[in-house]
Amino acid sequence: MSVKIKNSEQIEGMRIAGKLAADVLDMITPFVKAGVSTEELNQRCHDYIVNEQGAIPAPLNYHGFPKSICTSINEVVCHGIPSESEILKDGDIMNIDVTVIKDGFYGDTSKMFLVGAANAQDKLLCRVTQEALYQGIRAVKPGAKIKDIGAAIQKYLKKGNYRYGIVENFCGHGIGESFHEEPQVMHCRNFDNTPIQAGMCFTIEPMINQGKKGNKVDEDDGWTARTIDGKNSAQWEHTLLVTDTGVEVLTLRDEEDFPRVITHS
Ligand code: MF3
Ligand code: CO
Ligand code: CO
Repeated sequence: MSVKIKNSEQIEGMRIAGKLAADVLDMITPFVKAGVSTEELNQRCHDYIVNEQGAIPAPLNYHGFPKSICTSINEVVCHGIPSESEILKDGDIMNIDVTVIKDGFYGDTSKMFLVGAANAQDKLLCRVTQEALYQGIRAVKPGAKIKDIGAAIQKYLKKGNYRYGIVENFCGHGIGESFHEEPQVMHCRNFDNTPIQAGMCFTIEPMINQGKKGNKVDEDDGWTARTIDGKNSAQWEHTLLVTDTGVEVLTLRDEEDFPRVITHS
């Protein structure tokens, strides 16, 4: 197994899948508010993906995952399972992670939502984690190495004196005609000398904890990863295409203040 380089036809497929995944996050945004269950959000996303987009929600039945999106609230790091009994409340922070399959191609993206009035500490965590994603994206260009992404993120956190924990046991990943392929993309300093090459597609999806990096998967449901210290965690994710001169963000949304294409001269 090795890193796949996409041809122009596959790149077009990835652009379409990326756009659809981004559209799901735009669609669901106005429905995220206190009083709503995460299952209602799941059902809306599922119906939109299947009926409006003619696409497939990739998480559903993926290694037994029971729902169509992941909803990860507060101390949940990732892979939260939507549920009828889980009701959003004022002050929650939540990640929604959407992955769609369109014509065989995968698009994978997530964002944080502030439910009602989040506190200043949580807002900062969410904003810094989004910027960490952007710093990681800026490190992507042909000739760079996979380790440059984690280094850029760690450097950014250090420079801002944020005493956060970067989660190490969940990674970004190659993506294409399968959900998770090579390379693995670590979000902390690492030693992965895999060259970044034009035509590669992968995600960057930093999970950053208010407290320590440690987290543990729920033993009953086998999915929900929570911080061990109980402090909150944030995550943002984009699917990327490496171009000849830099990077294209395949899952960018209009609300973002970030370029779709970065050209390094
Ligand atoms: N979307 C997640 C990722 O970014 C994977 C979710 S797997 C699931 O890689 F089964 F939990 F949906
Ligand atoms: Co992903
Ligand atoms: Co994802």
